[in-house]
Amino acid sequence: MKLDRFISNRTAHSRQATRLLIASGRVHVAGCITHDPRHEVDQFVAISLDGELLQARQAHFLMLHKPVGYLSATSDPQHPTVMQLIPGPLREQLHIGGRLDRSSSGLLILTNDGLWSRRLTEPRIKLPKTYRVTTLRPISQETAERFGEGIYMTTEQLTTSPAQLQQLAPCEARLTIYEGRYHQVKRMFHAVGNQVVSLHRESMGAIVLDPALAAGEYRALTTAEVASVDQAQTNS
Ligand code: URA
Repeated sequence: MKLDRFISNRTAHSRQATRLLIASGRVHVAGCITHDPRHEVDQFVAISLDGELLQARQAHFLMLHKPVGYLSATSDPQHPTVMQLIPGPLREQLHIGGRLDRSSSGLLILTNDGLWSRRLTEPRIKLPKTYRVTTLRPISQETAERFGEGIYMTTEQLTTSPAQLQQLAPCEARLTIYEGRYHQVKRMFHAVGNQVVSLHRESMGAIVLDPALAAGEYRALTTAEVASVDQAQTNS
C-alpha cells in the first residue's frame, strides 16, 4: 500500500492533506523521515505521524532449539518438520532464516519478515554463524589454516570467507563461518579429508541459542536480538 493511502486510512486527514504532511517531513517510516507519498509500506514497518506511532512493526521473530531428526521445512511426507514444533496459527506465517540439516541441531530462527531474514544468510552481510562440530577423524593441524584461507566450493565456484576454527578436543571444534551455503560445514570438513559426525549451531551474529531452551522448545527474540540483525553491516 502507498504511504499516503495508509495515513489517510488511519487518520482523519484527506489524501490531499496527507500528501502535504508527508512532504513537510512529519511522517517517519522505519524511523526515517519520508517525503515520498508513493512510498510502499507493509505491516512489517513502523509508521509514525508527528512522533505518534500509527503502526508498530507487526512481525514475529522466534528462536527454536532444533532437535536432531527434524527437517528444516514446512511439511514433509516422511520426516517430522520444525514447523510442527510451533503452534498452528503462528506456524502458517513463518519461514526459516538459515536452515539446518536434518541431522544438525541448535539455533534455528523463524520469522514472517522476509527482508530481515535475508540478512541472516546474505553472504555480503557476513553475519558470523558459530557451530560446535564433532568429527569422525582427529582434526588435523592444517585444518584451521585451510579454513582461514577459505575453501573452494566447486558447485558455486567460489571460495568461502575466512573461517575461524577453535579446537576443543581431538575430534571436536567450534567453527565460525560467514555465509550459509548448502551443507557448508560438512563440505568444508570433507575438503580437508574429514567428516562431520554431529553439528550444533550455537549462534547467528549476536543471537545465541538460549541455554534455557531444551531441544524442541522456542521463545520470541528480544528487541535487542532483532535489532542486532538490522544493525549488521554489509562487509564488502
Ligand atoms: N552446515 C552444514 O553442513 N549443515 C548444517 O546444518 C549447517 C551448516
